[in-house]
Amino acid sequence: MNGLAPSGRMRFIAFAVILCAGYFCQTAFAHPRGEWTKLILTQHWPQTFCSVNKCATNISYWTLHGLWPNTGMRCNTSWHFNASLIEDLIPEMKEYWPDLLAPSSPEFWKYEWTKHGTCAAKAESLNSEHKYFSKALELYNKFDLTSALNKYQIVPSEEKYTFDQVETAITSCYGVKTKIQCIHPGKGGQVQTLGQIEICVDRDFQLIDCEKSTKEIWRNDIPTVLVSGQSNLSVCDHSMPVYYPPVPSRS
Ligand SMILES: *[C@@H]1O[C@H](CO)[C@@H](O)[C@H](O)[C@H]1NC(C)=O
Ligand SMILES: *[C@@H]1O[C@H](CO)[C@@H](O)[C@H](O)[C@H]1NC(C)=O
Ligand SMILES: *[C@@H]1O[C@H](CO)[C@@H](O)[C@H](O)[C@H]1NC(C)=O
Ligand SMILES: *[C@@H]1O[C@H](CO)[C@@H](O)[C@H](O)[C@H]1NC(C)=O
Repeated sequence: MNGLAPSGRMRFIAFAVILCAGYFCQTAFAHPRGEWTKLILTQHWPQTFCSVNKCATNISYWTLHGLWPNTGMRCNTSWHFNASLIEDLIPEMKEYWPDLLAPSSPEFWKYEWTKHGTCAAKAESLNSEHKYFSKALELYNKFDLTSALNKYQIVPSEEKYTFDQVETAITSCYGVKTKIQCIHPGKGGQVQTLGQIEICVDRDFQLIDCEKSTKEIWRNDIPTVLVSGQSNLSVCDHSMPVYYPPVPSRS
C-alpha cells in the first residue's frame, strides 16, 4: 500500500468497496432471511443405539441418523413424504439409513423428511424429496465415519480408547471440528459409550466446524436428540475412557 500514489490508493479503496458491496449483495440474495446456513450430517453407531433402545442389529458400520439444517423444523407439514419418489434410493436407504427400531418401515425417513427435509428444501439445491435424500446419502458416503475411524485404528472392540484418540482420528480425517456424542454411564460408571457424531457442512456442502454453529443450533431449538431413547446422548467427556462397542458375535 505504501508504494501506491494517492490516486492509486483511491482506486484500490473504490475497488474494495465494490467488491464488498457485491459480496454482501450476493450473500443476501443467496441466503434470504430465515434460511439455513449449515447442515448437520448425523451418523450413529447401531450397537450403541440398540443398547439404549433395546433393539438388535448386526450392522457393523455407522448409519445415517439425519441431515439437519441449522434453522427450522417442520417447515411445511403439507409436504408429505412419498416413498415412491425415492424408489431408486430405497436399497441404499435400507442399508445406510435404516430404521433400527423397525427395519422394514419407512417411518424414520418420513419423520426426518417432515421435521428436517422440508426445511432443507428451502434451498434450491435440496428442494425435492429426491434431492434431499440423495444428498444425504452422498454426504454420508463422502464423510464415511467407519473408514475414517478405521484408518486411525479406532475399531469396535472391548478395548477402551481415550477420548483424545477418537477426536484426533476424526479431526485428522476431516480437518474441522465435529460433535462427538456419547452415552454417559450412570452414577459411579467409569466408561462412556461412543454413540453419535455430527459433521457440519455449509450451503455448498463443504466441511465447516460444527462448534461454531452450536449456539445457533440451540437458539433455533433443534434438539440434538430425536429418538426418545437417545436422550442420554451428549457431548463426550474429555477425561473418560470411550467404549466403541463391537457387533456381538453370532451364536
Ligand atoms: C437415561 O438417563 C436417566 C437418568 O439420567 C436414567 O434414569 C435412564 O435410565 C437412562 N436411560 C437409558 C435408556 O439408559
Ligand atoms: C445380519 O442379520 C441378518 C438377518 O438377521 C442376516 O441376513 C445377515 O446375514 C446378518 N449379517 C451378518 C454380517 O451377520
Ligand atoms: C408446501 O408443500 C406443498 C406440497 O409440496 C406445496 O404445494 C407448497 O407450495 C409448500 N408451501 C410452501 C410455503 O413452500
Ligand atoms: C407419490 O408419487 C408418485 C410418483 O410421482 C405419484 O404417482 C403418487 O400419486 C404420489 N402419492 C401421493 C400419495 O401423493
